[in-house]
Amino acid sequence: MSEDTAALHDSRGERIAALVERRWAIICVLILAVFVAVAAFAGIHQATMPQARVETVSPTRLHLGGEFVETDLGSAVEPDGSVTVRAIGQEYSFTPQCMVVPTGTLVTFRAASPDVIHGFLIEGTNINTMLVPGFVSTISARFDKPGDHLMPCQEFCGVGHEGMWAKVKVIDRVDFLKMAETKPRLTCVE
Ligand code: CUA
Repeated sequence: MSEDTAALHDSRGERIAALVERRWAIICVLILAVFVAVAAFAGIHQATMPQARVETVSPTRLHLGGEFVETDLGSAVEPDGSVTVRAIGQEYSFTPQCMVVPTGTLVTFRAASPDVIHGFLIEGTNINTMLVPGFVSTISARFDKPGDHLMPCQEFCGVGHEGMWAKVKVIDRVDFLKMAETKPRLTCVE
């Protein structure tokens, strides 16, 4: 190879490298543009927003007072007709083990953890959040049909993680309200 041909090869190589670099830069910018568009769509059309507020709770005092004492756990009917379910997730179980909720009603779950991070996921629904010690996790949903949903802990929390799960039982609203007449807190724990 003469010196001239070598120089020609070098400049061609440079040009190809520059072309490939530029192509990749364009692809990266396009990917970013897609992310921005997806975030904007989710925010504007699906009202997906970052958490607007943060509620804290002392993880070491959950059982001593406040809304997470054992007698307050379970489902309660609110004055506006909605239902609040209070629950605790700790190594390696949820309390209550079986949560009962009515159909066609706004249900708000309020849950906390006294030890480590656990997952709060209800199969077949969009409910999927984390229980972080020190914070109250709040998530709302509406259940259309009666049925059972499994609620496995989906954050690795220790050796007993795989055995940590609960159940959410959706029952007819009329039956639920009948049960709620006699008890301030409902569960389906047998
Ligand atoms: Cu609790 Cu995994």
